Amino acid sequence: MNLNLTEEQLAVRDAARDFAQNVLKPGVIERDRDQRFPADEIRQLGELGFMGMMVDPQYGGSGMDTVSYVLAMEEISKVDASASVCMSVNNSLVCYGLQEFGTEEQKQKFLVPLASGQKIGAFCLSEPEAGSDATSQRTTAVDMGDHYLLNGTKNWITNGNSASTYLVIAQTDPEKGHRGINALIVERDMPGFQIGAKEDKLGIRGSDTHTLMFQDVKVPKENRIGEDGFGFKFAMKTLSGGRIGIAAQALGIASGAMELAIAYSKERKAFGKEIHKHQAIGFKLADMATQIEAARLLTLKSAALKDAGENYDLASSMAKLYASEVAMKQTVEAVQIHGGYGYVKEYHVERLMRDAKITQIYEGTSEVQKIVISRAVLSE
Ligand code: CAA
Repeated sequence: MNLNLTEEQLAVRDAARDFAQNVLKPGVIERDRDQRFPADEIRQLGELGFMGMMVDPQYGGSGMDTVSYVLAMEEISKVDASASVCMSVNNSLVCYGLQEFGTEEQKQKFLVPLASGQKIGAFCLSEPEAGSDATSQRTTAVDMGDHYLLNGTKNWITNGNSASTYLVIAQTDPEKGHRGINALIVERDMPGFQIGAKEDKLGIRGSDTHTLMFQDVKVPKENRIGEDGFGFKFAMKTLSGGRIGIAAQALGIASGAMELAIAYSKERKAFGKEIHKHQAIGFKLADMATQIEAARLLTLKSAALKDAGENYDLASSMAKLYASEVAMKQTVEAVQIHGGYGYVKEYHVERLMRDAKITQIYEGTSEVQKIVISRAVLSE
């Protein structure tokens, strides 16, 4: 793996950093407090090409590599993980899924507006009774000849109310188990589709997470992604890349907290000297920096494998597992370094600590990553 970033990759990172510091940072505390989706900021991210980063320019994307995507995700997540989860789902679940497995017609109709930032997408797999056990889909898509009749409920859907295009995973033939599942493109205005309650969450409070209900929604056959029965594999393949995005998000949350902790430790004095000069704080910062660098290397490795066209399933699960554990542990330490100031909103680290928790849960819990990793190493 080449550890030197190219000029282009550095320019993408700097552009994302500028946007995060100058546009996202000023209102982030208020958006978190009010649970307000960063609609205007996401629109601007789209105009800058950050919503379809890896999509071919012929389909409205920026044609960048996955390493650039990781660098941008880290910078945006240092400041606003609610904006970065919207960006991650749109880029690595929805746009990737359509670019890789969609038909030419599906790409023209759905991918172009999503990749160019005119519309937002959502990925709908989780259900009230099917989270980690994703093959147990209760949502049904009954084959009616020229269309599917979609019925069921999806839970915890990121971009639930801000999206226009929804990739919905549903069971068509229960007797075939995971081989009877399909992935369908559902449009917001299809009759029978209802957006339910917004979740009141611990963290990523600016991200709009909703329950979605489908009652006799007629989805045309041409909206199915891939062959009949491809839906589960579609979800797994797409989530493999999604996990690179969430690893990068966790990395950004952790490195954002570290930057704040370092700055604070140089300003704050106790017992006659800056607190970083106390070994108790210096050693915390050393552990933080080392673990964050290890998380960064795992995340960049999984991105580099994807860019090289190699298998990245194991690498992305390792990156997501490790980076999310580091984010949780080290944001707690960043709050500790700040003392009482760390517990109040003005200092940003308490939000990063709350935001970190979800990275251990969504796009496959830490326990799911350990299933993927243990199966892979045991089969080697
Ligand atoms: N690529 C291609 N195929 C894959 C695959 C992959 N990465 N992983 C599994 N498969 C295939 C298997 O080969 C198998 O196919 P065959 O029978 O033809 O060989 C089939 O899929 C079933 O696989 P498993 O037997 O491994 O399935 P399992 O029931 O044991 O489950 C699991 C495996 C890893 C636990 C999986 O269910 C899983 O990943 N669960 C977590 C789901 C998840 O991440 N949910 C997150 C929700 S989305 C979200 O959070 C988005 C958001 O809004 C932020």
